[in-house]
Amino acid sequence: MIWLLLACTNSGDDVDSQVDEGLDTQDTETVDTAPPERPSFANPQRAEDQNPAQGVFELTLSAAPQSFVVAGQEVQGYAYNGQNPGPLIQVETGDTLTATLENGLDTASTIHWHGASVPFEMDGVPWMKDPVQAGESKTYSFELTEPITGWYHPHFDTERQVDLGLYGVLLVKDPAWPVAEHELVLLADSWGEAPEEGHHAGFVFQENTWTINGLESPVLDVQSGDSVVAHILNVSNMGYLSLSAEGMRVIGGEQGLNPAPTSPDRLVLGPGDRAIVEFSPGSQEIELLTHPYSVAGEIQVGEPVSILGIHPTGSEAAHAGLDWPFIAAAPSPDPGGTAVRYVFQGDEQTGEWRINGETFPDVTIATLPEGEPAVIEVRNLSATEHPFHLHGMSFEVLSVDGVPPDQRTIEDTVNIGIRQTQRLLIPADNVGDWMAHCHILPHAEGGMMTVLRVE
Ligand code: C2O
Ligand code: CU
Repeated sequence: MIWLLLACTNSGDDVDSQVDEGLDTQDTETVDTAPPERPSFANPQRAEDQNPAQGVFELTLSAAPQSFVVAGQEVQGYAYNGQNPGPLIQVETGDTLTATLENGLDTASTIHWHGASVPFEMDGVPWMKDPVQAGESKTYSFELTEPITGWYHPHFDTERQVDLGLYGVLLVKDPAWPVAEHELVLLADSWGEAPEEGHHAGFVFQENTWTINGLESPVLDVQSGDSVVAHILNVSNMGYLSLSAEGMRVIGGEQGLNPAPTSPDRLVLGPGDRAIVEFSPGSQEIELLTHPYSVAGEIQVGEPVSILGIHPTGSEAAHAGLDWPFIAAAPSPDPGGTAVRYVFQGDEQTGEWRINGETFPDVTIATLPEGEPAVIEVRNLSATEHPFHLHGMSFEVLSVDGVPPDQRTIEDTVNIGIRQTQRLLIPADNVGDWMAHCHILPHAEGGMMTVLRVE
């Protein structure tokens, strides 16, 4: 996110004047060098269901300009219902969501439900559908059949509007899942560049300043032995998270539970990507670190930063982990054949980003017949990584450079490495004109977006 920073008019602040006095007298001992106190972790405020009927969750999302204080700075942006992040929508599988967007911006907008397989009319894309004009509203309604760690954001003027703060979480939980003592939702946003520099500043995205739900490195206080589950969402326009934490187990991705838990050295989440992780704090503090990451494949030097602290009191032993209903599953065999090929090309110097040599909206629409699973092959011939996102359907990763993943991997957003080829199996079971694009929003805006038609 890149906010418009307001001029700071408040110069009589207590801390500032104390520091000034200390410096004036050259008495360094009176300067407080203790690290600033970290804020307490808080989940985004949960949306209230406006509909008493069972199985229907109804709410209004009013988009409007809003100023906030983020990481100590007053910033001018946009918000849903005056909240940044927007209200947390939490439902269960099988529920119907009915959400009305009231557009209080002075520009058109939409809501896209990232990760949800919705009917095409509900997908919130302006492709063959008009956006919601300023002052107008639109009601989105659809059933949520699968568990997802999803999110919602505009899909019109996307780079700018997401940047300014229009995003929130759509969490669809399976009622069979255990409930942890601490259930966290972490919306991670990066703050790398000054607005004047624009989104394309810097070939390698080294920005490593992050907020979680608008808070800088918040701390969650727990009792040792508590169970902690976190849904982590990278909602930044272009920053990559490369996460590690003592004892962190990855139990799920963007589309529900994984077949088995894993403990990778680094959990990499590109823009738009999500994961579900579990922590078991004993008596030691846990810090969730993000390490410097290069989308150009360069070795990154520099210190990791903590984006979340989990600080226990007490001396209970660590929790052994909740009893998740994992369903072990091997990757599907590759059926062979390639229905659609997407070649990603472009470079940071020209800001031209293409799929198959084409720039959205001047694209060739690939068409698949409904109900016939098909393989999409995505190949990255550019010098940087790209998070590939498909609307309307989740897909299975069959192979990465010919090698199947260790376990069945269902995604809607997958990072494509440099010179990498991934084969993806899509069910082609949802009729519509689905956007397929890079979720680095400046790349999508620069043209790295196409349309896959299922008919
Ligand atoms: Cu999260 Cu096409 O978007
Ligand atoms: Cu990209």
